[in-house]
Amino acid sequence: AQNERDSLFIVLNFANEYFKKQLFDSDEGRSIGLSYFKERGFNEQTLKTFELGYSLDVWDGLLKEAKKKGHSEELLEKAGLILKQESKIYDRFRGRVMFPIQNVAGKVIAFGARTLRSDKKQPKYINSPETEVYHKSKILYGIHQARQAIRNEDLCYLVEGYTDVISMHQAGVQNVVASSGTSLTKEQVQLISRYTKNITVLYDGDSAGIKASFRGIDMILEHDLNVRAVVFPNGEDPDSFSRSMTSDAFREYLETNARDFITFKTDILTDGGKQTDPVKKVQVIREIIESISLIPDGIKRSVYISACADLLDVEEQVLLSELNKLLIKKQ
Ligand code: UTP
Ligand code: MN
Ligand code: MN
Ligand code: MN
Ligand code: MN
Repeated sequence: AQNERDSLFIVLNFANEYFKKQLFDSDEGRSIGLSYFKERGFNEQTLKTFELGYSLDVWDGLLKEAKKKGHSEELLEKAGLILKQESKIYDRFRGRVMFPIQNVAGKVIAFGARTLRSDKKQPKYINSPETEVYHKSKILYGIHQARQAIRNEDLCYLVEGYTDVISMHQAGVQNVVASSGTSLTKEQVQLISRYTKNITVLYDGDSAGIKASFRGIDMILEHDLNVRAVVFPNGEDPDSFSRSMTSDAFREYLETNARDFITFKTDILTDGGKQTDPVKKVQVIREIIESISLIPDGIKRSVYISACADLLDVEEQVLLSELNKLLIKKQ
C-alpha cells in the first residue's frame, strides 16, 4: 500500500541520515570510514553527492537510535535494516562503509555496504534484501545523479560497481550507472532508454567482467538500443583505472577505446585479432551472428552483417543465410 511505502521511505531516509552522521561525527566513523574513503581518493564533494556513510561496529547502533525516534522494529525489518533471529534482533549493517541506493527521484530505497577488512571471512559487500520499495532488477546504482548527464550526453556508461560510478563521476564522467554486480535486466535497459538509446559497457577487465559484458550487450541489443564496449587492462576496473591517470587521460581513453559490439567481441574472442585458426574463426562468426539475430530492427541487422563480413572477411551472403536460419528458429 502507498502508506506502507511512504513509511519505508521515511525510515530509510532516517537510516541514511544516521549513517552519514556516523561517518562525519563519530570517532569510529572518522578514523575508520572517512579515512578509508579518503584513501580511495574520494573528495568531500563526492562524499556529499553520493551521500556516503558509515555503520558502527556494534549490534544495535541504528536499532537503538531508530527506536528512540519512534520507528518500530517491524518497520525496520521490512526496510531490510535489521535482522531477527529467534529472540535476537540486530543491525544488518555493522562496521561497514555505506552506499545508499537511490531511486530516480533521489529517495533512498536500499543500501550497499562494504567491509573494510581484507580477510575473506565475510562478503566484500552486503546489500539490502528485496523490499516493497527495492527491486534490485529494476534499479541502477547512480541513476539519480546521472540522469541529467545521460540526457545531455545522449550516452550512458554502464559499469559493474558502486565505486566505479563514484570514481568516474569524480573524474568528470557523470553519465554513468552500475548494474551492481548482477546481470543486466530488461527493466534496467528500459530505465536507461528513458534518457538515451546509446549505452557503452565498461565492465571489469577480468574473465567475469568479460562474460558479464557479453550478456549485457545481448540484453541491450534485444531492446533495440545501440551498444559499444570498452576493454580495460587485466585486473583493472573503471575505478582503479581512472585513478591511475589524469581525468583528461581517462576520458580520452573511453572515447578512443569504445568499440562497436562486433569489433569488441571479435577482438576478445580472437585475442586481439591474433587468432587465424579457422575453427576459432567459425566460432567467432557464430557468436556474432547470434548477437545480431537479437536485434529487432531489420535495417540495423543488415548493416551489422555487412560490417561483420568486412571485419572477418567472409561472404555477406553466407552470413545472411546463417542469420536467417537463426531468425526462423526464433519464430
Ligand atoms: P567488484 O568485486 O568488482 O567490486 O564487484 P568493486 O565494485 O570493484 O569494489 P571495490 O573496488 O573492491 O571496493 C562489483 C559490484 O558487485 C557487487 C557490488 O555492487 C560491487 O560494486 N558485489 C560485489 C556484491 O554485491 N557483493 C559482493 O560481495 C561483491
Ligand atoms: Mn539529490
Ligand atoms: Mn569484478
Ligand atoms: Mn570491480
Ligand atoms: Mn574496484
